[in-house]
Amino acid sequence: MSEPVINIGLAGFGTVGRGVWKFLRSQEDLLACRTGARLKISKVTTRTRSKALDQGVPESMLVPSWKELVSDSQIEIIVELMGGVQEARELVMTALRSGKHVVTANKALLAAHGEELLGIAREQGKKLLFEASVAGGIPILKALQEGLVANHVKSIHGIINGTCNYILTTMRDQKRTYEDVLVDAKRLGYAEADEALDVDGYDTAHKAAVLAALAYGVWVPEAKLFTQGIRSIQQQDIAFARQLGYEVKLLAIIKNDLEETLEIRVNPTLIPLTHVLASVDGVFNAISLRGDVVGDALFYGRGAGEAPTTSSVLADLAEIAKGRGRQEAASFCKPLVKKVLQIEEIISRYYLRLTIEDKPGVLAQVATVLGVHGIGISSVIQPETHEENGVPLIIMLHDAQEQKFVEAVKEIEKLKVVQAPAVWIRVEDFSS
Ligand SMILES: NC(=O)c1ccc[n+]([C@@H]2O[C@H](COP(=O)([O-])OP(=O)(O)OC[C@H]3O[C@@H](n4cnc5c(N)ncnc54)[C@H](OP(=O)(O)O)[C@@H]3O)[C@@H](O)[C@H]2O)c1
Repeated sequence: MSEPVINIGLAGFGTVGRGVWKFLRSQEDLLACRTGARLKISKVTTRTRSKALDQGVPESMLVPSWKELVSDSQIEIIVELMGGVQEARELVMTALRSGKHVVTANKALLAAHGEELLGIAREQGKKLLFEASVAGGIPILKALQEGLVANHVKSIHGIINGTCNYILTTMRDQKRTYEDVLVDAKRLGYAEADEALDVDGYDTAHKAAVLAALAYGVWVPEAKLFTQGIRSIQQQDIAFARQLGYEVKLLAIIKNDLEETLEIRVNPTLIPLTHVLASVDGVFNAISLRGDVVGDALFYGRGAGEAPTTSSVLADLAEIAKGRGRQEAASFCKPLVKKVLQIEEIISRYYLRLTIEDKPGVLAQVATVLGVHGIGISSVIQPETHEENGVPLIIMLHDAQEQKFVEAVKEIEKLKVVQAPAVWIRVEDFSS
């Protein structure tokens, strides 16, 4: 007996759209055997038609607007791969309200409107799936909702932007500046012409918002999600961090150890070289997660690119084809947290680099200010240099509340023997 056909409307034919077109065909039999249904693209819409025609999409399949996908009663699933927010939101809303399931990879859309769109999906009894929106080919969202469903997730630490990880790794290995490596990243296609979304941390923040929503049932608005990118990271800090036994990574950090309180932020972070995330180099992504039942778990793989991202889109299509429900479970749960911490409230360790006058007693003055704020020093290094314009002093600090730490740094910057600005980076020791 032949399998039922599920017709798909594909919106967007860029990197991921092209992958879905190619791999849905090459994997059609495998998916049919595994899901019991035949997934077939019946209509495609995209802005530049020639890109689709060049890949063998028949002219008869191409329609000028997504509106023709959602009004087609034969189409059961819309795959949104256009990117952007406003038009994608309109498409997803209209598709769900027209009784279609939706699969998207659009993290910017979800971070801004995920709650609203999932609400519509629920009302309509349709699925809105988005595995590819976080960490490309790594099936972390399905893991959270299926394999780890019995866990309360205590923490998530993610390297989930390949561009930033490539830049930081290359700065370290080739001892080059941020600006210099960024040029390479653009040439190699790892960074967009406008790099801001990646290097300023917003792409990571969008993905962090999606992870938090699935782990805790709460959508944290972008304005409440502290986001700091990697533009200000200097090669010398990466080198000093290595001397101290740390690696600098852009991390998404989500913690829920305090009852009903969520800590969520994106910032460059020193992580111990002994931690497995420290060895995640180049464009690779990894997510380290701690559950109260499973303990520590690690997910590693390619976070972007045509094939890895397509793998996740096809997994969502297969899930719909199998007729399994998963989103219902997550979205019907009561949110697990009531308060999202402000960045000033978090507790962290810190790396602090000062430029100081090369004379005795400076460390004592700095230590006094830190002591007044109740902040302890865990180690100090002062490389031997004889520069006229001051010498570096690197201090690793014990846990401190961010507000107190920032106040202490402001006072330290006012010391006559210290040149402002101080450079500091949060440190994660994975103890919680
Ligand atoms: N690339 C990745 O590795 C990756 C990984 C994870 C998630 N994602 C997400 O997946 C989505 C697609 O990414 P991508 O890299 O494939 O983007 P892309 O290469 O820029 O492709 C977007 C496609 O959508 C088309 N398009 C844009 N607006 C449209 C409209 N209003 N109507 C019809 N077509 C329209 C574009 O047409 P033109 O060809 O004329 O520009 C292009 O074909 C984004 O949300 C992205 O964040 C991407």
